[in-house]
Parts: sequence; C-alpha cells; structure tokens
Amino acid sequence: MPAMLYRLLALFHWRPRALAVKRALSCVNDAKRVVDVGCGPAWLARVARSCDLDYLGVDPSVRRAKGIERGQVEPGDAESVIGQLHRLDIVVLNGVAHHLPNQTLAALLNAAEACKALVICDHRSEPQNHSVCRTLQRLDRGQYIRPRSFFETLAGWTLIRMEPFEICVLGLPVWSYFTAIYQPTGAPRD
Ligand SMILES: C[S@@+](CC[C@H](N)C(=O)[O-])C[C@H]1O[C@@H](n2cnc3c(N)ncnc32)[C@H](O)[C@@H]1O
Repeated sequence: MPAMLYRLLALFHWRPRALAVKRALSCVNDAKRVVDVGCGPAWLARVARSCDLDYLGVDPSVRRAKGIERGQVEPGDAESVIGQLHRLDIVVLNGVAHHLPNQTLAALLNAAEACKALVICDHRSEPQNHSVCRTLQRLDRGQYIRPRSFFETLAGWTLIRMEPFEICVLGLPVWSYFTAIYQPTGAPRD
C-alpha cells in the first residue's frame, strides 16, 4: 500500500490499534525496551515512551538509521533484527505478522523466546468477518492474513491474553483485528 494511502487510512485504524498495544504493554512487568518489528513510520515509539520503555523500530522501508527520544529507528527486517534482541525486550508485531510467511514468523518467534514478552496485533481472517473487511483483506499487500485460532497456540509461547476487536468506519466493522500478548513458556508469570 502506498505510504500516503496507509497514512490516510491510519486516521481510522491507528488509534484503536495503538490503544490495544498500549494495554498489552502495560501487562508486562520489568521490561526495558519495545522492539517494533516492521515499525513503518514508528508511531509506536510514542506509545513505548508513555509506558516508560525504550524503543527500537526496524523496517525494510526505513532508508537510514536515526535516533529518536529514548530510542532508534533502523533499516531491517524480521530476520535481521534477531541478532539485536535482548532479555528485557518486548517484541511487537503491529500489523506485520500478515506480511511474514510461516518460516520467517517462526524464526523470529523462536529467537524472541529469549525476550520478556511478545505482542502481536494484526488482522484476523474469519468467515464471519463483514464483507467490506474480507474485501480489504483480499486487497491487502500482506499475503498471510491468518485466523485468530493460529495465534492461540504458538510454539514456545504461553498466551496471556487475546483481545479481538473491530475497527469501525461509519458503523461498519471494516477491520477485524486482535491483540495477543504472550510470555515465553517456562518464564515466571508476571
Ligand atoms: C501495515 S504496515 C504496519 C506498520 C507499523 N507497524 C504500524 O502499525 O504503523 C506493515 C509494515 O511491515 C513491514 N514489513 C513487510 N515485510 C516485512 C518483513 N519481512 N520484516 C519486517 N517488516 C516487514 C512493511 O515495510 C510495513 O512498514
């Protein structure tokens, strides 16, 4: 999707997603940094700061690294970020999992098991979704929109909370989303 169109549609979908991710981040104790994989314009940096967390955003569309308040935005993708993950990181995939094939997603999630928590906010493909939503999902550049059930069991991760929600425009449920928060299986529960 061209960046301008994404920014325009974000007038509708950004705030509900940001609030849902913020709720998820607030559930994690003792984390130090948000690693925003596929950060796009890095709007999540502000949410991270509001939760008193440092920030690293990586995205293949970022041309050059830049420092921001309490963080950094860098060129990179779901595979290249693996070497940068630390124990006190919360790895966030916000609107990005549907761009990642299973193998890439699995490699990232496997590496992220060394971190504090994982937050995924994304589309969910379900037969009961509104027809407008299903049409938009078909047109989306991300080819891997998955059902919510896929995210209920991720190898190596314990699901702490799954929050499905709809983003409505003029009363129509245009985007069917979920936010899920996980801890590595075996980690002491927060
Ligand atoms: C729908 S946008 C979401 C951007 C941002 N997370 C947000 O919520 O505003 C999807 C983003 O995923 C990025 N992306 C696509 N393939 C990726 C990959 N293999 N690794 C990391 N990011 C990727 C795109 O460049 C794009 O910025």
